[in-house]
Amino acid sequence: MPDFTPIRHPAPRRQPMRLPLYLLGLAFAALAVPAWAQRSVEFAAYALPADGTVAVTMRQGEPQDPAFAELDRATGGALARAAASAAFEGKRGTTLNLHGIGPYAHVLVIGRGDEAPSPRLLEDIGALAGSAGASSKAARIELLWPEAAPAGGGAHLAFGAALGEYRFNTYKAAKADGDKPGQGRLVLRVAAPDAARAAWTRDWQPVAESVRFARDLVTEPANIIYPESFVARTRTAFAGVKNVEIEVVDVPAMQRLGMNSLLAVGQGSVRPPRLLVVRYRGAGAGEAPVAFVGKGITFDSGGISIKPGENMWRMKYDMSGAAAVTATVLGLAKREAKVNAIAVAALAENMPSGSAGRPGDVIRTMSGKTYEVMSTDAEGRMVLVDAMWFVQTRDKPRVLIDVATLTGSVRTALGDEYAGLFTRDDALADALLAAGRASGEELWRLPLHPSYAKDLESPIAELRHSGGSGAGAGVGAHFIGEWVQPGVAWAHLDIASMAWRDDGSVPTMPAGASAFSIRLLDRYVRDAVEKAD
Ligand code: BES
Ligand code: MN
Ligand code: ZN
Repeated sequence: MPDFTPIRHPAPRRQPMRLPLYLLGLAFAALAVPAWAQRSVEFAAYALPADGTVAVTMRQGEPQDPAFAELDRATGGALARAAASAAFEGKRGTTLNLHGIGPYAHVLVIGRGDEAPSPRLLEDIGALAGSAGASSKAARIELLWPEAAPAGGGAHLAFGAALGEYRFNTYKAAKADGDKPGQGRLVLRVAAPDAARAAWTRDWQPVAESVRFARDLVTEPANIIYPESFVARTRTAFAGVKNVEIEVVDVPAMQRLGMNSLLAVGQGSVRPPRLLVVRYRGAGAGEAPVAFVGKGITFDSGGISIKPGENMWRMKYDMSGAAAVTATVLGLAKREAKVNAIAVAALAENMPSGSAGRPGDVIRTMSGKTYEVMSTDAEGRMVLVDAMWFVQTRDKPRVLIDVATLTGSVRTALGDEYAGLFTRDDALADALLAAGRASGEELWRLPLHPSYAKDLESPIAELRHSGGSGAGAGVGAHFIGEWVQPGVAWAHLDIASMAWRDDGSVPTMPAGASAFSIRLLDRYVRDAVEKAD
């Protein structure tokens, strides 16, 4: 019987020179806070401010939005004249900055198109105001939305603002003259401020904070966030949150459990792998949980099958799935959702070294199933299958959703408009597609064709772990699906093209880490789990 245990991990403890630095790094990672804070959000009854910085929406066509019309009257028609001379039409997603309009130092005009008001529209409006606020030094910005629709609209303005104003400033020193844009207040002047404030603090602020937590984790470079510091940050974020239990599986425990697949990815790095499990109990003990499993490669160099150097720096975001699932459960716990939910983060750093795994290696996974490694750069599926087997064995989830920056090929298929959805369960597909539309984090269902099994036949093991004719995202999904136990409703989300945004073309996703799938999964729980029970 061959010994499938991967080589012993080089323990940092045996290298005395490394220890102090290493601990210092860990402390730094756990304590790091943004260099400056974001704007505080306040709600107030609708009224036209006398002066200052205001944001109003402009409709494409007639009748004009009420706040725009009122501001225009108050400035003797200066607002509409300025918009017209700038040829600004009010198209959804566009903005116009006007200075010195009547008594107003700055008027931000936000195009809202001609659609009826919806939560998504208000989130985009809030996000554009938030984004403008992030680069403005104004102490107070007032956003005007006098309309009663949509119900609870004020909370969605705030939610959008929090998403759109996100900037990562941790390593930028504020200028000596106290120049700190993005500070001060954002006042939302709405029709029903009390109801909006209540909905915001109870239902949406926890989700906004979890998105921020995940974006910070993803944006942090891989010298700061690695498996152990990911765990440390998560512990800090969950401190004091009720009904949560955190379990961390370390290398000796993984060896005992036979998690050779997760170990095989981590074995090339001096940063040891971790499996992080966060269990939240918001429903009865008898209720089977929903499990979210995330790919947590804190840096993907490709390993021995090393990636080209160009753009390799971006592979710090290869732990976006792990950040998203952990943050989703953080949001669920903070808003006290009525669900039992588990986040599993499969954390490892994929590095080439003398101790790294090789192409051709045969791995016996925790389930006992063996596979042949084709490329050490297809490491995401390797960490996921042990994490999925672990949670299915321990927690018997009824639904299992894995989230991963798994393949470059999903971008070829779907661009940066949709994440790929793979599932054999039509009801789960429908629920997730609907949650995608409602949250603005959209999915497109792709096939799990039976022929992918042929692509993964190995002459020496039960499977090979990548290969085939071209449907790379689907073949990867098929491989992962081989570790799903009977009776479990499983879906795989390939978020490789959505987790990092090169531009800021979606108002709620500023350039950089998007933390994609937190809002989607939160919406799925609200509509398909909490309401259904
Ligand atoms: N992390 C990458 C996938 C990726 C690529 C994410 C680009 C984001 C942007 C993943 O581990 C990977 O390298 N996948 C390979 C799979 C192949 C070797 C079967 C890929 O997509 O090329
Ligand atoms: Mn890879
Ligand atoms: Zn990867």
